[in-house]
Amino acid sequence: ALPSEVRIVEVGARDGLQNEKEVVPTAVKIELIERLAAAGLPAVEATAFVSPKWVPQMADHAEVMRGLTRRPGTRYPVLTPNLKGLELALEVGADEVAVFGAASEAFSKRNINCTIAESLERFRPVVERAREAGAQVRGYVSCVLGCPYEGEIDPAKVAEVSKALYEMGCYEVSLGDTIGTGTAGKVKTLIDTVAAVVPREKLAVHFHDTYGQALANILAALEEGIAVVDASVAGLGGCPYAKGATGNVATEDVLYMLNGMGIRTGIDFDAVLQAGWFISDQLGRPPAGRVSRALRAK
Ligand code: HMG
Ligand code: MG
Repeated sequence: ALPSEVRIVEVGARDGLQNEKEVVPTAVKIELIERLAAAGLPAVEATAFVSPKWVPQMADHAEVMRGLTRRPGTRYPVLTPNLKGLELALEVGADEVAVFGAASEAFSKRNINCTIAESLERFRPVVERAREAGAQVRGYVSCVLGCPYEGEIDPAKVAEVSKALYEMGCYEVSLGDTIGTGTAGKVKTLIDTVAAVVPREKLAVHFHDTYGQALANILAALEEGIAVVDASVAGLGGCPYAKGATGNVATEDVLYMLNGMGIRTGIDFDAVLQAGWFISDQLGRPPAGRVSRALRAK
C-alpha cells in the first residue's frame, strides 16, 4: 500500500551545489537553505564537512552553519566522512550528520579514498561520537543500482552495507542511485532485498535523474512501502566522483506527483518553486525540474 504521508529530505544545498564549478557565495547558500526550511521541508541538508581539496565548493561549511538562522523543528544534516569532519561539524552546532558509504569498491575508493570495509571501520567511531554528542546520524549507500566504474551492483552487497550502517547506529539508511541508471523493477528487487535486513521504515530513497527514471523509481519505492524521499530543489546537482551524473530528482517534481496522488508532505509547493527559481537565477540557468519549467513558461 502507498504511504499516506512522505517525508522529503532536501539535499539541493549539498548534493546539488557540490557539483557546481563556480563557487556559489556563502550568502546565497544560506538564503537557499533558509527559503527551503521556510517552505516547510523537514530536513534541509546544509553542507558537507569534507576535505576542501576534494570538494572546494563545500569549503565554507562552517560559515554556512554559523550564518544560518535555524528554524525550530527543521533539521539541517551535514555530511561527515570521518572524525575530523564530525568534530568540525559539532563545533558549529550540527544536530544531524551523515556518513556515506558505497556498495561499490571502485566508487568507495574514488569518493572517500578507502575500501568499503575501511569506510565502515572509519564510520563506527563517527557514529558513536556523534550520538554521544546528541546528534542523529543518517547513513548513505551509493551506487545501489549501478556504479560508474563497476557497472551492475548486486543488491546483496547493498543489503550488506545498509545493514552494517543500520547496526552501527544510523537511524535511517538512504539508498543512492548515484548515476540514475536504475529502473522500476530493479528498485523493487533492491528494496525487497535490503528490507530483509533493515526495517523498511528505516529506509529512504535517493535517486538521481540522469536517465529520467527517478519519478518512476520513486513510485516503485512508495509501492514497496518506502516513505522517505531525498530530492533536490530545481534538480540541482550531481556527484563530483560520478562523471555525467545529473542532479537528484527535482523536489518540485516529487511534490507535484505526491500532491496529485493525495500523499501529504506538509510542504508549501509554491515556496519551493520560488526557492528553485531563486537559486536557478543565481546560477544563471533554468531549473532542471520539468514541473518548475512548465509552470514558469505559463
Ligand atoms: P584522504 O585524502 O584520504 O584523507 O581523504 P586524509 O585523512 O588522508 O587527510 C588528507 C588531508 O585532508 C589532510 O590535510 C586532512 O587534514 C584533510 P593535509 O594534512 O593534507 O593538509 N581532511 C579534512 N579536511 C576537512 N574536512 C575533513 C577532512 N578529512 C581530512 N573531513 C576524505 C578522505 C574522506 C576526507 C576525502 O576523500 C573527502 O573529503 N571525500 C569527500 C568526497 C565527497 O564529498 N563526495 C561527494 C559526497 S558523496 C555523494 O554525493 C553521494 C550521495 O549523494 C549519495 C548518492 O548520490 O549516491 C551522498
Ligand atoms: Mg547524491
